[in-house]
Amino acid sequence: MQHYKSHFKDKVVYCNCDDPRISNFFNYFASNFKELGLKKLIASCYREQVRDLFNTKEDENGFYFEYTGTEGEKKKPSSTDIIYFKGDGDFRNSESIELLKKSDIVVTNPPFSLFREHVSQLVKHDKKFLIIGNINAITYQEIFKLIKENKAWLGINLGRGISGFIVPEHYELYGTEARIDDSGNRIISPNNCLWLTNLDTSKRHENIALTKRYFGNENEYPK
Ligand SMILES: C[S@@+](CC[C@H](N)C(=O)[O-])C[C@H]1O[C@@H](n2cnc3c(N)ncnc32)[C@H](O)[C@@H]1O
Repeated sequence: MQHYKSHFKDKVVYCNCDDPRISNFFNYFASNFKELGLKKLIASCYREQVRDLFNTKEDENGFYFEYTGTEGEKKKPSSTDIIYFKGDGDFRNSESIELLKKSDIVVTNPPFSLFREHVSQLVKHDKKFLIIGNINAITYQEIFKLIKENKAWLGINLGRGISGFIVPEHYELYGTEARIDDSGNRIISPNNCLWLTNLDTSKRHENIALTKRYFGNENEYPK
C-alpha cells in the first residue's frame, strides 16, 4: 500500500469485499486515515446464504460500515455502528453499487472466482482500483484487454513479493512461503497473486535498461 499513498488524499475508499471487523485493508486505511488525508472509508461485508433452522435474519444480511475519522481512536466498528443491507452484501447488488457510486477508489482482495465480474464492474463505473488477483488473471481475455489498452497495469510487487495473507490457527504452515510475524500472525505468501490497478506508480515511469537499438542492427532481428 505504501506505493500509492499520494492517490488517497481527499478520496473515498471502498473495500467492497471486506468485513470491517477483521479486514486488514480496513485496518490499514482506518489506522492511516489522517496521514493519507482520506475523506471517508467504507467497508462492506458479504454474508453467504447458509440456510438452516438456527439462522437468524442477522446471519443472512450483509452489512457495511462508514468511517469518517471522527470516531477517534475507535477504529473497529461495534455492532451499533454497523448498517445492515437488505440483501446479502454481494458487491454486485444494487445496495453495494450505491456505495460504489459514492466512492473514488476500491481497494480489496475480491473472491478470485468473481474477479472478472469485479473488475468489469469497476471499469463500468469508471472507478480507480487497487485489487489483488490470481497471477493467471492477466491471461483472462477481459483483463488482458485492459492491460493492452493501458487502462490497468500490474501494481508494485507480485508473487512472494506481496507481503502475504494471515491464515487461521488450523492452517498448516509449511515450506518457505510460511512464517510467523512479530505479532504472532501466521502468514502465507503464496507465489500466485498479483496487484491489478489503474493507480499510477513510479515504477511505470522508470526506464527499462536496454542493451541495443533496433535501428542500425536490423540484420540481427530479421523478424
Ligand atoms: C479473498 S477474501 C478477502 C477478504 C478481505 N478482502 C481481506 O483481505 O481480508 C474474499 C472475501 O470476499 C467475500 N465475498 C465472497 N463472495 C462475495 C461477493 N459476491 N460479494 C462480496 N464479497 C464476497 C468473502 O466472504 C471473503 O471475505
